[in-house]
Amino acid sequence: MNIIDIIEKEVKEKIDEYKANAEDHYDFWNEHIKYVYIENQKLAEQYGADIEIVKLGALLHDIALICKIGDRKDHHINGKILAEEILNKYSYPKEKMDRVLSCVYNHRSSKNATNIEDLCVADADIIAHFDNIPMLFNSAYNRNNINLNEVRNWLKESFEKDYNDLSNKTKESYKEQYRLICKIVLGEDI
Ligand SMILES: [Fe+2]
Ligand SMILES: [Fe+2]
Repeated sequence: MNIIDIIEKEVKEKIDEYKANAEDHYDFWNEHIKYVYIENQKLAEQYGADIEIVKLGALLHDIALICKIGDRKDHHINGKILAEEILNKYSYPKEKMDRVLSCVYNHRSSKNATNIEDLCVADADIIAHFDNIPMLFNSAYNRNNINLNEVRNWLKESFEKDYNDLSNKTKESYKEQYRLICKIVLGEDI
């Protein structure tokens, strides 16, 4: 098995553990990570990023949430520590490891990206939301006590934040999709 298959297997095992034991039984793979993993590779091909680095970055970017380590607000920081522990187990080369860890640490907005691989993971993390809108409704209801107006506002703010966090070049390609989301999902014309 190559390193990507090994890490994919390990992440999926941790996801199964989360799914079985966490209160919300959230399926991280099918609801989120697989979309980031796929979108990420499309962006990497388009932008000439290193495929191995972005694949590992996508697989590991939310590892702290999956392993329930620390607060959500710090999951990029704890994620970097956990990802390093995991990659070290397989003696992954230091230079490549630093680039994967950079993807994990900087994944929360393309504004934090320090290189093209960081940017691919950060943008794919957002496009994953566009790909799976029902998942966002689930988060919206879980976090807002099923109050319709709060849910509506949360979704609106969440999509706005996502769109603003995209890099300029990805934003251009996803402009029409964002316009349709606002129109169809939020009932707004922008
Ligand atoms: Fe994240
Ligand atoms: Fe994510």
